[in-house]
Amino acid sequence: GRYFGTAVASGRLGDSTYSTILDREFNMITPENEMKWDTTEPSRGSFNFAPADAIVGHASAHGQRMRGHTLVWHSQLPDWVKSLTDATTLRGVMDNHITTEMSHYKGTIYAWDVVNEAFADDGSGRHRGSVFQNVLGDGFIEEAFRTARNTDPSAKLCYNDYNIENWSDAKTQGVYRMVKDFKSRGVPIDCVGFQSHFGTGGPPASFQTTLSSFAALGVDVQLTELDIAQASGNAYATAVQDCLNVTRCTGITVWGIRDSDSWRSGENPLLFDRNGTKKPAYGAVLTTLGGS
Ligand code: XIL
Repeated sequence: GRYFGTAVASGRLGDSTYSTILDREFNMITPENEMKWDTTEPSRGSFNFAPADAIVGHASAHGQRMRGHTLVWHSQLPDWVKSLTDATTLRGVMDNHITTEMSHYKGTIYAWDVVNEAFADDGSGRHRGSVFQNVLGDGFIEEAFRTARNTDPSAKLCYNDYNIENWSDAKTQGVYRMVKDFKSRGVPIDCVGFQSHFGTGGPPASFQTTLSSFAALGVDVQLTELDIAQASGNAYATAVQDCLNVTRCTGITVWGIRDSDSWRSGENPLLFDRNGTKKPAYGAVLTTLGGS
């Protein structure tokens, strides 16, 4: 009943080992970089959707659904956006980026990561500094979600972040307070993505508690960028089981196919080795999902 997805790089689609595994194993796709601001609007008002269109085309030809990643993020953000200092201008630029990109993909995206990584790692539980935070203030996240809902009411709208898997962490609690506040005030939000970039031990012991606590606020939860250093079978099985134990955990995405495709390739964190052979972690995931 859950989807199982992967991050896809458009430049690898022509590699038949890669695309064979992609189409055999995965029914959800997240573009690894192609929908980010530096690719889609490298200069103001000039949009480039060709790389992401290639991935969406592949997905629709192979019956896979898409996660849109990502509309508002401090990273992989062009300098022309970072240099804006006037709130009215930046608000217009952000809203135009959201409406133009979401309109282009209307009807093809299951869920959008509307805002990515807006919270700080400093133990404060507050937003991180960014041009959006610094120029627009705390309300920029709400503004982005309202604009997104108005643009494509049928897409699910997610907040996505890393290091929010451990329930007692200040960052987790900060995001939880935001989602609770959004739900109480009617700000549109449908899901929270837990990136799940783990070390060798896999998820923290409290991960299931975190997932169920967010779900209890009335949002779906998903593991959106799962990878685990050295890919122990036990660690992968625990991560998958934590999701399966939460009714509103609707899917899992691993952040790449082969270890050689990974942004953490030195840590061999994925389910397939560089030859495209299934690793022990693949079997552990399959068994946990009830397959054989
Ligand atoms: C990473 C990609 O995998 C790399 O190819 C790129 O160089 C940097 O970004 N959090 C996210 C993802 O939300 O977009 C990031 O992806 C990994 C961390």
